[in-house]
Amino acid sequence: MKVVVGNNEQISKLIAEEFIKVINVKPNCVLGLATGTSPLQVYAELAKANKEGRVTFKDVATFNLDEYIGLEGTHNQSYRYFMNENLFNHIDINKDRTHVLKGTGDYLAYANQYDKLIADFGGIDIQILGIGSDGHIAFNEPGTPFNSLTHVAELAESTIVDNSRLFNDISEVPTKAVTMGLQSIMNARKIVLIATGKNKAKAIYNLLKGPKTEEVPCSILQDHKDCTIYCDEDAYSLVK
Ligand code: F6R
Repeated sequence: MKVVVGNNEQISKLIAEEFIKVINVKPNCVLGLATGTSPLQVYAELAKANKEGRVTFKDVATFNLDEYIGLEGTHNQSYRYFMNENLFNHIDINKDRTHVLKGTGDYLAYANQYDKLIADFGGIDIQILGIGSDGHIAFNEPGTPFNSLTHVAELAESTIVDNSRLFNDISEVPTKAVTMGLQSIMNARKIVLIATGKNKAKAIYNLLKGPKTEEVPCSILQDHKDCTIYCDEDAYSLVK
């Protein structure tokens, strides 16, 4: 694993450039996308580059990591809504080629075919990840098997507390989600992970210095052939 340390603006720009490089080499590439606070600046940089004509998304396909169970795609805390608001509505992408797991209706059937659908599109060329304070990636909480594919997951208490900042009340935070599994993520050809803030420091320490164990889901990334960790000084503070 490579590590790059810089402030949020610097690392977000670097990650956006990695995406742009991949897309410009392979215009019909497949992007793996995350929600949450961490990738917001990356998405803003991608939208800016698209407006400047430095990249086009017209033949790109995307797959998102996860979705809350119980929220319609129109709900303002759903991850489909997040993606539309923070990226898809601002770039020249064909929305039919954007895939977000479903949180309602036949969500299980869709989840069960998600890994095959990704493979049918040729596999993920570049995947962006955030990281939870407990070391989760996507919604793979501590204890998730390393060989997991897309599945239904219970959110850890710490994740419900972390994510409650975006809801009116903690009681509104869904307790379950559908998520790509750890093996699904490892199948991506290239992975970039972004972490900022002191509350990510322990997870980044465990990722970079700890043993590979299912108790620390992100530690599986130690085995990936092309994975770069981008963090700010606060997230990196326990490693030094
Ligand atoms: C979101 C996701 C989560 C987040 C993580 C960090 O699609 O997969 O694993 O990346 O919970 O969230 P933020 O970036 O809000 O701190």
